[in-house]
Amino acid sequence: MLIKRTGDIPNSEVTPQSVYMNRRKFLAGVAAATGAATLGARSVSDWLEPARVLAEGTKLGPLVKSPFSADEPPTPSKDVEHYNNYYEFGTDKSDPARNATKFVTSPWSVSVEGEVNKPRNFDIEELRKLVPLEERIYRHRCVEAWSIVVPWIGYSFSVLAKLVDPKPTAKFVAFQSYYDIKQMPLGPRAGIALPYVEGLRIDEAMSPLALLTFGMYGETLPNQDGAPVRMVLPWKYGFKSIKSMVKVRFTQNMPPTTWNIADAHEYGFYSNVNPQVDHPRWSQATERRLDGSFFGKRIKTLMFNGYGDQVASMYNGMDLRKYY
Ligand code: MTE
Repeated sequence: MLIKRTGDIPNSEVTPQSVYMNRRKFLAGVAAATGAATLGARSVSDWLEPARVLAEGTKLGPLVKSPFSADEPPTPSKDVEHYNNYYEFGTDKSDPARNATKFVTSPWSVSVEGEVNKPRNFDIEELRKLVPLEERIYRHRCVEAWSIVVPWIGYSFSVLAKLVDPKPTAKFVAFQSYYDIKQMPLGPRAGIALPYVEGLRIDEAMSPLALLTFGMYGETLPNQDGAPVRMVLPWKYGFKSIKSMVKVRFTQNMPPTTWNIADAHEYGFYSNVNPQVDHPRWSQATERRLDGSFFGKRIKTLMFNGYGDQVASMYNGMDLRKYY
């Protein structure tokens, strides 16, 4: 596989864990030196530090029920948390759950920039509280022909997009994951260019179905599932749903995407779930639904993963064999 570096967050901009931990030690020292000083109910370190990110497994709520929820029983959370693709933490399905346990996701911010009138850097806690969180049960179909049903928690990406006021020149949205080789030592062996990058056409990004996701199964996201914030795009193959995002950039031109860089013949920009267009190496007509049983259940794959009513009109007149 082609290994090429993309993206524009230099590692030097990512706060190394050691610096972050030292800063916490320093702040604890300040608090001790001032004799456990408190300012109202808050300690000195609370005043000096940005808001802490909720830990993995923290209950989220209250949650609004979404009209977009599938009427299907969710896959047992054990399967969703132990059968992952997160190449920064290893390429076997069981690797991310094992290797991401110490991933530091606090502090965290997401920069939203590019062709917008109001670029902004959002602290993750600020981002999570923009509007009430919804629970959305979505089918999630991987290009490798397995699927899951997940009660995700988040809100439509369009909420965030409207806040930064895209210019008419914004035709696409580019997304970038966090990447720090010190925390992700298996990254260089992933066989794909990192940081992981993805992209959508602007109308796709503004679809109410495109979910900015902070949690699942009632709680904050586990690290291996993309903590603290990821995208979920239920009508597209799973690899479009980028994890652990740090940057969103509105662009004039179609942005590069990780799997397309790795093999353009196998992975297109659109990657809509389409049972009629086979992957060059396997059929996409059926999928194995993980359901807690040993093999899962083999079921037919639906066009746009069953979300055609909401998304098909965006592709009117497009040859979906050409734009796979
Ligand atoms: N995001 C990052 N940063 N790194 C990855 O390797 N894998 C993608 C996508 N997002 C990936 C990623 C792929 S191939 C899939 S199928 C989904 O995440 C898997 O999501 P899940 O593990 O939560 O089921």
